[in-house]
Amino acid sequence: MALRDILVWPDPRLKQKGKPVLDVDATVRKLCDDLAETMYEANGVGLAAPQVGVLMNVIAMDVDQRAAEGEEPKKKGEGLFWLIDPVLKVGEGEFTYTEGCLSIPDEYEEVTRFGHIVVEYTDRDGKRKQKEATNTLLSVCVQHEMDHLQGKLFVDHLSALKRELIRRRMKKLKTQREAERKGEATAL
Ligand code: NI
Repeated sequence: MALRDILVWPDPRLKQKGKPVLDVDATVRKLCDDLAETMYEANGVGLAAPQVGVLMNVIAMDVDQRAAEGEEPKKKGEGLFWLIDPVLKVGEGEFTYTEGCLSIPDEYEEVTRFGHIVVEYTDRDGKRKQKEATNTLLSVCVQHEMDHLQGKLFVDHLSALKRELIRRRMKKLKTQREAERKGEATAL
């Protein structure tokens, strides 16, 4: 496994759509493993391939690390699964949740999405499966990550004003990170 760099919005690569995988081969399984490792390293619950610059319809997810109401959180890895070529079969009702994104560090905003969903997908073993979720982190996360495969981010669900404020903060963050990187290089 290897860590991959997570792209920070705004980045034109995050606006591009993923391509269908169709055949889960060794390259796709490697991507699955790298996405999982990168997601855990960044303390995320979901990560889509376009966020690491790979335009394929692959998502790593583990929402069980966060405790559901009245439950203990599970250890990292216990709830890990992958959604390859996901299709939303059912989307009903509404549910509002405060979302963040690994490509938009430290920004959190309320987003309203479907409450009840049924998603069909291929798992890492190549088998077609289904999951159902209602008004939970899982129902939110599946829709958030599937957005990434369409070149869409949670800020696209916000008002233009909120999106512009976040865009400015992200540009500043990227400039700072770039300066730090250059500083490190010259410190050698
Ligand atoms: Ni995201």
